[in-house]
Amino acid sequence: MSKLRVVQWTTGKTGTAAVRGLVGHPALELVGCYAYSPEKVGRDVGELAGIAPIGVTATDDVEALLALKPDCVAYMAYRPDFDQLDRILSAGVNIVSTMYMLAGAGYGEDVRDRLAAACERGRSSLYTTGVYPGHMGMTVLAASAMCTRIDRISMLESLDMSGYANERMFRAMSIGLDPDDPAAPGMIEVNCGSFKEQIRVLAQALAIELDEVRFTAEFAAATDDVDFGFMKLEKGQISGFKGVIAGISGGRSVIECRFVWKVGDQMTPNWPVEDGYVLEIEGDPGVQVRLAPIGSAHFASAGPTAMPAINAIPHVVAAAPGIVNHGDLPFVTGRHLLNRENV
Ligand SMILES: NC(=O)c1ccc[n+]([C@@H]2O[C@H](COP(=O)([O-])OP(=O)(O)OC[C@H]3O[C@@H](n4cnc5c(N)ncnc54)[C@H](OP(=O)(O)O)[C@@H]3O)[C@@H](O)[C@H]2O)c1
Repeated sequence: MSKLRVVQWTTGKTGTAAVRGLVGHPALELVGCYAYSPEKVGRDVGELAGIAPIGVTATDDVEALLALKPDCVAYMAYRPDFDQLDRILSAGVNIVSTMYMLAGAGYGEDVRDRLAAACERGRSSLYTTGVYPGHMGMTVLAASAMCTRIDRISMLESLDMSGYANERMFRAMSIGLDPDDPAAPGMIEVNCGSFKEQIRVLAQALAIELDEVRFTAEFAAATDDVDFGFMKLEKGQISGFKGVIAGISGGRSVIECRFVWKVGDQMTPNWPVEDGYVLEIEGDPGVQVRLAPIGSAHFASAGPTAMPAINAIPHVVAAAPGIVNHGDLPFVTGRHLLNRENV
């Protein structure tokens, strides 16, 4: 079996986990890597990912990466570069990404149409996933097949995120602000654009017509000064939040993406966390799926975000050109992963 050739786009939190998932993968071969940070250019990608050198060097030369004739790019930058995405897709290279805003019109209809046109030009496909939004949506779709009737779908991510050392991401989502800061709900809502896309993708896959998608949030404040190592919070600052993104159809909420994110547990209110995901379908029959890590594993780590994208690569390479979503692909599985060597 010849392996599919993959270029990794950046080696941040998710990208590093993707590199670990790609190295030694029985069906995939890491042939190149794009570096956003100038200091990463010229460095071995294994070293950038905290593993042994693998003989692949990171570069910021997009054309040199396309000349490697990859089957797929695993695009996991902090923010999208639409010119790069357009160039990659137009060159006939498929993309898997963890930026769920790319699943639909999260960055606006112009961007979506531009990328769809690039797919058409290059006969390539763009698929966006991740853990949540992403694979949880695919899992709820799989569970929905057992139902005779669906009344309402809800997905909950409920985590203490203090193990995810990404201060920039937390600050962008209002952590550290005063709970009464009028900017706080809007900051979360902007960053929840990806959940709005998740609801639209699920609605489309289940043939549900949405009237609108609504957002609400609540905040918890730190009860003490806390130092997490990667970030400090002062007493009274936002240290956790709850959010609900609701897809409304026929005047009622029918698909909900909910989340409880806490940074530590010294806060009020100190909501209990599930340490994972709870997916529920109300209907005939009602179905609940709980996904929780075993042992010291943490779902808020980058591996569960990166791997649904990496494991989808064979399906995305085989897919019809265009922006494809969970409803368009076969179920993504951990095919080839039994007894894989640890890297
Ligand atoms: N769907 C999900 O479940 C899920 C979960 C978590 C994250 N995500 C998404 O996955 C993507 C990657 O997340 P992450 O936590 O891995 O990100 P990250 O570590 O903060 O950043 C990833 C890489 O982006 C590059 N970068 C830094 N600043 C940039 C900028 N201003 N513009 C463009 N690129 C920049 C850097 O590349 P170099 O390493 O080359 O310098 C950095 O290492 C994000 O879009 C995030 O929203 C999705």
